[in-house]
Amino acid sequence: MRIGVRVVAALVLLCCAVSARQEQKAPAAGAAAEYKIPPEASKLPNPVKATPASIAAGKKTYGFDCAMCHGKDGDGKGDLAADMKLKLLDYRDPASLKDMTDGDLFYIIKNGKGDMSGEGDRSKPDEIWNLVNYLRSLAQKNFTAPAKQ
Ligand code: HEC
Repeated sequence: MRIGVRVVAALVLLCCAVSARQEQKAPAAGAAAEYKIPPEASKLPNPVKATPASIAAGKKTYGFDCAMCHGKDGDGKGDLAADMKLKLLDYRDPASLKDMTDGDLFYIIKNGKGDMSGEGDRSKPDEIWNLVNYLRSLAQKNFTAPAKQ
């Protein structure tokens, strides 16, 4: 009897371990389609005004943490992006981020998305909002997309 209980317990553990593994795998397969930003995070208003000081602070952090992928001017052509063969948006094009709220950007920068790992607790919320303000400042009014190669 005792042994029977142990065997059952072991089987249950094994099943859990296997299904947990499968669950972990699932998002990786369809990451882009699965990615959901909670509505309350989308609606979060940006509490930091896009002052020159905020944008300058965002630019500084961007230079350290983001430019290697998103490119020095936000063109999406950083060295690491090239190495990883990432296709990134060009933030100089106002169309790139127009369908995203500041809350969406904050959420992605904090939590990461796909091949991008988030800032997590490395940056204080205000620092992330500075990054959001900086990204918005990269959009160029009369931007014309470079010809596709
Ligand atoms: C390792 C390369 C890498 C680094 C470093 C990185 N990102 Fe990203 N980022 C990506 C990729 C790849 C995506 C697209 C993810 C997807 O849609 O699956 C992305 C998406 C985003 C998005 C969503 C809009 C979009 O372009 O699709 C924002 C906003 C963003 N990154 C901001 C930042 C900021 C700010 C930093 C620095 C704190 C940063 N990223 C650092 C690779 C990177």
